[in-house]
Amino acid sequence: MIVRKILKYVLILAVAVFAACTGKTAADPLSQKVDSLLALMTFEEKIGQMNQLEGWMNADKEAQIRAGQVGSLLNVADPKEVNRLQRIAMEESRLGIPLLFCRDVIHGFKTILPIPIGQAATWNPQLVEQGARMTAEETVQTGIRLTFSPMVDIARDARWGRLAEGYGEDTYLTEVMGAATVRGYQFSCANNPINDSDQIINGLAACAKHFAGYGASESGRDYNTTWIPEILLRDVYLPPFKACAEAGAMTMMCSFNALNGLPSSANQHLNIDILRNEWNYDGVLISDWGSGSDLIPHGLCADKQEAAIRCYQAQMEIDMEGHLYEKYAQQLLDKGAIDRKRIDDMVRNILRLKFRLGLFNQPYATTETPEYYSQKALDTALKTAQESAVLLKNNGILPLVNNDNKVNILICGPLADAKKEQLGTWIFDGEPEHSVTPLMAFKQDSRFSVAYEPGLTYSRDTSGEGIERAVKAAKNVDAILYFCGEEAILSGEARCRADINLPGAQCRMMEELAKTGKPAVMIVMAGRPLTIGNEVEKAAAVLYAYHGGTMAGPALLSVIAGDVVPSGHLPMTMPQMVGQVPMYYNRLNTGRPATTPMLINDIPIGCPQFSIGQSSYHLEVGDQPLFHFGYGLSYTTFEYGEVDIVESVGKNHDSGTERQEFSVKCSITNTGKYDAMEVPQLYVHQMSGELARPVKELKGFRKIMIKSGESVTVEFKLTPDDLAYWHEKWKGKTAEYYRTTDPADYEVWVAPDSRCLTRSKKITIH
Ligand code: BGC
Repeated sequence: MIVRKILKYVLILAVAVFAACTGKTAADPLSQKVDSLLALMTFEEKIGQMNQLEGWMNADKEAQIRAGQVGSLLNVADPKEVNRLQRIAMEESRLGIPLLFCRDVIHGFKTILPIPIGQAATWNPQLVEQGARMTAEETVQTGIRLTFSPMVDIARDARWGRLAEGYGEDTYLTEVMGAATVRGYQFSCANNPINDSDQIINGLAACAKHFAGYGASESGRDYNTTWIPEILLRDVYLPPFKACAEAGAMTMMCSFNALNGLPSSANQHLNIDILRNEWNYDGVLISDWGSGSDLIPHGLCADKQEAAIRCYQAQMEIDMEGHLYEKYAQQLLDKGAIDRKRIDDMVRNILRLKFRLGLFNQPYATTETPEYYSQKALDTALKTAQESAVLLKNNGILPLVNNDNKVNILICGPLADAKKEQLGTWIFDGEPEHSVTPLMAFKQDSRFSVAYEPGLTYSRDTSGEGIERAVKAAKNVDAILYFCGEEAILSGEARCRADINLPGAQCRMMEELAKTGKPAVMIVMAGRPLTIGNEVEKAAAVLYAYHGGTMAGPALLSVIAGDVVPSGHLPMTMPQMVGQVPMYYNRLNTGRPATTPMLINDIPIGCPQFSIGQSSYHLEVGDQPLFHFGYGLSYTTFEYGEVDIVESVGKNHDSGTERQEFSVKCSITNTGKYDAMEVPQLYVHQMSGELARPVKELKGFRKIMIKSGESVTVEFKLTPDDLAYWHEKWKGKTAEYYRTTDPADYEVWVAPDSRCLTRSKKITIH
């Protein structure tokens, strides 16, 4: 203890000495603290900060902590264990540098929110921010101060299991949701009890992942290769990371995939040219789990020592459970393969993160008996689940409660009473016993008389007897509620599917239920868009609910009963058939867009080669999806007025030069009988230019309440910069990349979904 106290005084003195020697003034006290501490550290202790280990403890690991050889731990979630290990670091290590405890808290810690793709379907960033804040408040009690979230990988392929963890296919929507999540996690208290001017946040440090291009894996198979041209990378895949960085995300995580042949952990172009030099990012870059050692199977490095060099060269600062720096840094230093000064710079970022989290002042769990599931937390989870449900079809059966009569319903399907499954993927700390299932919620509601016959006991169940029982039970009811979908384990990391139909005998069950002649409402609880065209046809109504979390049951009850009007919209295109993927709304038009496709069974036998036309579509399904990006129905109806655009002259913020500005207004009237929320979406299409541009691009959206009979005018601002994109110009073998706006005509829509069936207006950029 005495030694540690002396060291603390030395640290204070070192601050002053450092300031005097370097000439740096007290203008940046945080840097001074960091540098002072760094000055006291041995090379081994510095490397220790770069070493992140899995939290299963043994005597060796504890000894490593004591020796200052570990900077962070992942997967310790018990506050008592956090405190025990932290005490070793604080009281028994030479410098008492706190450990940083990290965890995958992806959509809630104990109170589980809908999976992120479901949160994206709310189109409500304020709500998403509120959910992240709730999550951080639950989590930090345990002493965990960093979450490996948000995942802002763009996903255009419904086979890829990890799309469940992100915000879908659109760059703009993902930017908005990613930034909202970062703000929610990284909250700071106005009256910070620690009162340290360097401390930036009281909440959880966010980690934007997976940097970069991970979602474009070939064939939607996880960890697979991605080939993304620089301009596509910069237009589509990188902006959400930049948005998170600008929102203050304190860390980022390298992705597993090889991007254009180069895995991210060794990718200097991504990690240095772009992240550090272009974006001036001063947070910490963490590897993914062992992604550094993966450079060997990737075929980049012959052994771990080489892998360590490549990661170091690509400025990967924290090695998550890869043991590369830990094992090889000293040897590499001795060989001259790594440089002390550069290591100092990398460690500086890590120490800065720890200071910003206030860890030096408050390294411990705030309590050893944390409180979870507060009413506020449950309300946030409920509201998010309500707004994440997307109504895809309704022949008028919904809402189910129309008058005072009790409604007799059959509840069936494998997801109706599946406490664990409704929580979705990545719920290390979620407790299924706290889930309220749809069956539980409906049973408690006196407006319903409930019969329950699951039919199938889990989503892959193929047995037939249960279906027969469910069909029998349907005979005496007014309506059937069929809760189908995917078990949680079928989406998430490494859970990719080649067939994205409802698994097991669920399609057959839908068919049998439909044959009863009773109206069947299909509620899909899944981790990805599924190809449910046949089932949608047979259902009287369809709600796409993703995995809705702890409060999925009451949320779905309120929407189905009509207490809450559905307001979710699809964050991903739903294909008709898996063969259509990757399928996304902001595609290029091709030179031969589909006109009136002749489908496979309409082709006359023996017809000549060119007789059926030459356009871009699949013979089985044409070129259209089952449901478009942005689509979602309501119990009310909305009428969109004409788009009104007013052009004016404004000023560029940085240069002060003049620029065009557009105010895009549209009046929306609620023409139905329910007060309801609507999501007007702003789309543009560039009509000519240097490169072919997407048929539509989302540039803005709002989520607004419009009362029955009321009209509300929404306004969006557009500037030429909003229309800019990355260009590529080749000179011989060298390409030049620049972001600019083409002078051209642009079509502008305000519409309820990406089909843009409303009338567009044209603007011209000079
Ligand atoms: C995943 C990351 C996750 C990490 C730590 C990896 O397998 O790709 O997203 O944060 O494990 O659990």
